[in-house]
Amino acid sequence: MQDKYYLTTAIDYVNGVPHIGHAYEKILADIIIRHKRQLTDNAYMLTGTDEHGIKIQKTAAKRGITPKQLCDENFSQFEKAWKTLEISYDKIIRTTDEQHKKVVKQIFKKLLLNGDIYKHSYTGLYCSGCESFLNPKDLTPDGLCPDHQKKPEEVTEENYFFRLTKYKDKIADYIKSHPDFIVPSIRVNEILNQLENIEDISVSRTRESVEWGIEVPDDPSQTIYVWIDALSNYITAIGYDTENPSDKFKTLWPCDVHVIGKDIIKFHSIYWIAILMSLGLELPKTIFAHGWITIDRSKMSKSLGNVIAPKDILDEFHLEKPDAFRYYMASAALIGKDGNYSDESFKEKVNADLANNIGNLLNRTLNMLVKYFNGEIKPEFITTPDSNIAVLANNTSKTVIDCFNKFEIGEAANAVVSFADTVNKYVTDTAPWSLAKENKMLECAKVLYTVLEAMRYIAVMLYPFCPNIAGDILSQLNIKPDFKYNTLKWGGISQGMLIKKENIKPVFVRLDSELALDKKKG
Ligand code: ME8
Ligand code: MG
Repeated sequence: MQDKYYLTTAIDYVNGVPHIGHAYEKILADIIIRHKRQLTDNAYMLTGTDEHGIKIQKTAAKRGITPKQLCDENFSQFEKAWKTLEISYDKIIRTTDEQHKKVVKQIFKKLLLNGDIYKHSYTGLYCSGCESFLNPKDLTPDGLCPDHQKKPEEVTEENYFFRLTKYKDKIADYIKSHPDFIVPSIRVNEILNQLENIEDISVSRTRESVEWGIEVPDDPSQTIYVWIDALSNYITAIGYDTENPSDKFKTLWPCDVHVIGKDIIKFHSIYWIAILMSLGLELPKTIFAHGWITIDRSKMSKSLGNVIAPKDILDEFHLEKPDAFRYYMASAALIGKDGNYSDESFKEKVNADLANNIGNLLNRTLNMLVKYFNGEIKPEFITTPDSNIAVLANNTSKTVIDCFNKFEIGEAANAVVSFADTVNKYVTDTAPWSLAKENKMLECAKVLYTVLEAMRYIAVMLYPFCPNIAGDILSQLNIKPDFKYNTLKWGGISQGMLIKKENIKPVFVRLDSELALDKKKG
């Protein structure tokens, strides 16, 4: 494992409040970073909010408040949501931060001095939903923006343009020679096709058309718009500066992964790469594009009224901790695929995996250890690492690491649960209660030890998904909460370890459907 890991998420627009789609991405990202922290001491997660642009300017105007007031209000909603979901970011950047604004101006200036930014008069079809000009051939047959179902406006302006075309071939070479750059790789061809038809992009708007943004340095009649401002957060947040970059920047850059949604791959794998090339900086190792989350199989939208805040789901099910929701979101979709949230499948999935499979396994085993052995582990109970379960435990931990290296987060969760399944079958097959009845006490003890040791592995592997449940498992096993992968050697539960009856309780209580329904009606 390398000595540092730097992960970023997309920065969310603050013209609304956080919804389940935003939450999905931050949960995936948090799961990845928690996993990396199990392997290295220097894993750093950046998230943030995108606070400039016409949509925010317009929403604020409608409400009769300043754009900054709107940003502050909604930013605190995002901050609160991430706290509820236990997103363990190291930094949350706002594009209205003074430091960010200062460095974005430096970046703009440097691109200008490099000859990569030039002034040009342009007439095009502008979609305020996309915050970009659209290519006429990308419109629907009715001339609408395919993403926003809105007619783009014809706009003529003198703007600054970035010479994307200059980098076209270099970007194509980079994508082709780095098979891990765009994940999942099924997206590569789509990006290469877009690159084929790429044109220089407008990177500013007139001050009259967009006021709420960073001024172009030495030209107050123009506002930097929008991707140079937004994308640069990944370097400004960790102390990049064109003159004198910080030590933190030197340690963390290049980024190991940008976690983003599939709708913004083009901006990350083409625009951002060109900007970095122009700045002479190293390129990110991976752009990981997750899929889309729908609610009850329909696309979320304010007009459909099906935008759900993550906190509402926890409240609806009376959940104090976010573990179950995090777990569900992580396993809602396999890599890069779209996923769906519904109350029904949420309940089913977490009841089956967390309550029945993992929770009951721990609970029954601990109770048997207390009943038959006063909760004490004797030296002769300790099993050797060559048993089937021990071998499988070690193999599963390798599989999980491997899945994470490929950003197969749902697959990693499945591997843990499938291991727990096998351990459950092992308990059924060996029937330790029968062994006790037949007075085969040593045999019985060895089975219980094997299961508890397997539970210890499960706790470590489950930790990134369900940090509280994982903590409870270790605590009931009377083990200190260390989730590093280097604790995973068979035999970690040592002799003398005492399990106390009063500490045994279900680590996850089944979601009660009646309760949830009552609450909804109420
Ligand atoms: O795009 N399912 O902001 P944003 C899954 N500010 N992911 C979703 C989603 C859904 N239903 N809805 C949104 C922006 N996302 C820019 C990013 S990065 C330098 C600038 C994801 O608030 C979306 O794909 O529209 C994106 O990655 C993130 O949430 C923020 O979306
Ligand atoms: Mg968006």
